[in-house]
Amino acid sequence: MMKVTFLLNGETVEVDTPATQTLLDWLRNTRGLTGTKEGCNEGDCGACSVVVTDETSKRALNACILFLPQLHGKSVRTIEGISGPNSELHPVQTAMVDHHGSQCGFCTPGFIASMAAGHANGHKDHDDMLAGNLCRCTGYAPIIRAAQAAETEAVPVWMKEEKAPAGPAPFAPETLDALCAWYAANPDATVIAGATDVGLWVTKQLRTLDQVVFLNRCMDLQKITETADTITFGAAVTMVDVHQTLKIYHPSYAEMVRRYGSEQVRGAATIGGNIGNGSPIGDNPPALIALGATLHLRHGAATRSIPLQDFFIAYGKQDRAKGELITGITIPKSAPNLRVYKLSKRFDQDISAVCGGFNVTVLDGKVQSAVIAFGGMAGTPARATTVENALIGQPWTQQTVQAALPAFATDYTPMSDMRASAAYRCEAAQNMLLRYFAELSGQATSVLEVQP
Ligand SMILES: Cc1cc2nc3c(=O)[nH]c(=O)nc-3n(C[C@H](O)[C@H](O)[C@H](O)COP(=O)(O)OP(=O)(O)OC[C@H]3O[C@@H](n4cnc5c(N)ncnc54)[C@H](O)[C@@H]3O)c2cc1C
Ligand code: FES
Ligand code: FES
Repeated sequence: MMKVTFLLNGETVEVDTPATQTLLDWLRNTRGLTGTKEGCNEGDCGACSVVVTDETSKRALNACILFLPQLHGKSVRTIEGISGPNSELHPVQTAMVDHHGSQCGFCTPGFIASMAAGHANGHKDHDDMLAGNLCRCTGYAPIIRAAQAAETEAVPVWMKEEKAPAGPAPFAPETLDALCAWYAANPDATVIAGATDVGLWVTKQLRTLDQVVFLNRCMDLQKITETADTITFGAAVTMVDVHQTLKIYHPSYAEMVRRYGSEQVRGAATIGGNIGNGSPIGDNPPALIALGATLHLRHGAATRSIPLQDFFIAYGKQDRAKGELITGITIPKSAPNLRVYKLSKRFDQDISAVCGGFNVTVLDGKVQSAVIAFGGMAGTPARATTVENALIGQPWTQQTVQAALPAFATDYTPMSDMRASAAYRCEAAQNMLLRYFAELSGQATSVLEVQP
């Protein structure tokens, strides 16, 4: 059991909890706060969204894949606490009433939580903010109109006053030294960062995790450090914060991240978790490998750094010793030709069938260097080295690109699954290279840009 302290709708609560009890179960079953709904119980629908505030941010998160210990020292507002202490409606609630944004209402508490977080942060990109909230009855137009109508209203005072209480917690070390020493001594423990993967092991696979350690109180892992030429993301930097930095330096990569999960998933998911899970369809690795990223690891006091591409050895097998922690990842600031393409069945909030990262440099009309990496094409994120070699030294022309396309069959033998067939994946990867050439040649290639 773990002793966790946080603010719930403005009041301090102290809970003795199993490590993997979800906030959603606790709210509904123990506290009787049934306004927060359970739809999918896997982070996909947003019905369970709540507003979570800590020292640095206020964001909507999915309560169904949030473990109570992740809240230690934070503040949670559920739908019951988003209206004021005297039942005053929050401006987004008033706007939802005025604009007829709710019919059956099952989705509405989650929408209100996402809208209240977006409102507090001054967001106007409502489509992105609400892409993780599904509504089956009302439709999105009235809801978006409501979000727009509330934009100019002041943030209510009760949404601002939150300050997290809570002292140190043994299950969530606060320094990297303490964390790495503990993990090296307890190498069989499960590391939990954002729990957007681990949460599903519990809610869907009904796994019990004997020993866990949480990363969310370790500020050393949440830093973004810049030098003149590089950016280093701490392993526990969330995808929301990765996105903000990428928007400045790598806009194509940032555009892919805009479609990575939803705002609620990106607010919890970390870049280290997306690498640490070793998934062949994680969206960061192809982009990071194309950038020549360096991965940093630490075991006890021993540190090492390796090219990210060497981390992925085979399906389910990574170059990481037991008790060794991923501490961060370094990328160059400049890669003007980097493009990242994510292909998924749904445009928003869907796992990729194929995700490609392309980074070709051209000098005097000839390909000087080429790094191309894919997710969804093999058992690991992997480079297309034969394709790269077919390009390097050649004139950067449509003919060269066409001639390189058959080389994909040498580099990859993808599988067929529910997301795509092997043949589709091969063709999609080839078409992405054609798209890359077209885009670097100045043609509009995004489905959001191409005009009929
Ligand atoms: C609804 C939904 C949508 C999603 N959409 C996408 C998507 O579009 N693209 C995508 O790529 N992924 C997606 N995911 C998967 C998931 O969100 C990402 O893989 C995420 O980045 C995992 O990070 P996390 O911090 O939540 O990891 P966790 O769940 O906390 O951990 C994942 C794994 O990594 C290990 N780990 C975590 N941190 C470290 C560390 N520092 N060192 C060593 N090991 C570590 C854990 O032990 C665990 O094995 C989605 C998930 C959900 C639920
Ligand atoms: S219940 Fe669907 S996202 Fe949590
Ligand atoms: S109002 Fe019924 S799901 Fe949105």
